[in-house]
Amino acid sequence: MSNLSTYWDDRFSNEGMIWGEAPSKTAYHALELFQNSKHTIRTVLVPGSGYGRNTKALSSFFRVDGIELSTDAISMAIKWDPKSQFIQGSVLEQLAGDKKYDAIYCYDVLHLFLQEDRQRLIHNCIQQLNEEGLMYFTCFSDEDRNNGVGGKLEEGTFGYVEGKYAHFFTEEDLIEHFEGLQVIETGTTCETLTYNDNRSKEYLLRYIVVKR
Ligand SMILES: C[S@@+](CC[C@H](N)C(=O)[O-])C[C@H]1O[C@@H](n2cnc3c(N)ncnc32)[C@H](O)[C@@H]1O
Repeated sequence: MSNLSTYWDDRFSNEGMIWGEAPSKTAYHALELFQNSKHTIRTVLVPGSGYGRNTKALSSFFRVDGIELSTDAISMAIKWDPKSQFIQGSVLEQLAGDKKYDAIYCYDVLHLFLQEDRQRLIHNCIQQLNEEGLMYFTCFSDEDRNNGVGGKLEEGTFGYVEGKYAHFFTEEDLIEHFEGLQVIETGTTCETLTYNDNRSKEYLLRYIVVKR
């Protein structure tokens, strides 16, 4: 855990707003789904909220809490998205105490963990979700170019860059992770991330929307 914390703190302190200012288009997709939900959504939890790039797309419409491991990211998030509340902590431990939310949006955090911790993250999120609540998760797709690159740690999980690994999800695998919840929608999307040195990279993501 401390290695992961150092990794992210180093990246945020060296690169600042690593993925630029614009939210992911999946944040706008989640916004649309949350706004059109039959059950009114007022509160949203964002686990692994980074510097607030995606919370900012939601916080004008809902009361948003972000949970983030990196203190450097939180310092940036407080300035970038003052309408959201940010809590420093690990999504693998307790999330936000006894508080329950109407929806959860979790962008590109699930694939960072090995199997046991992926299940723990999902379990922790369900604990914080109201009945009939919605969850929107994104993660790396098995169709992404990095799948299979580097050493294999577990089925579908590879050390694709020095010092970092990720799990690459097939659609079936992703649905299995959310067993017991009602699957509303799944899909794929190509995300182009422009880094602050103007390099850009494309990632193939999967998303899943589930209901408790
Ligand atoms: C790929 S980034 C995505 C950031 C954010 N969702 C966004 O789109 O801007 C993963 C984020 O998860 C955070 N993170 C990693 N492990 C975490 C943990 N155990 N608990 C909370 N946050 C974590 C990292 O610090 C980083 O901000």
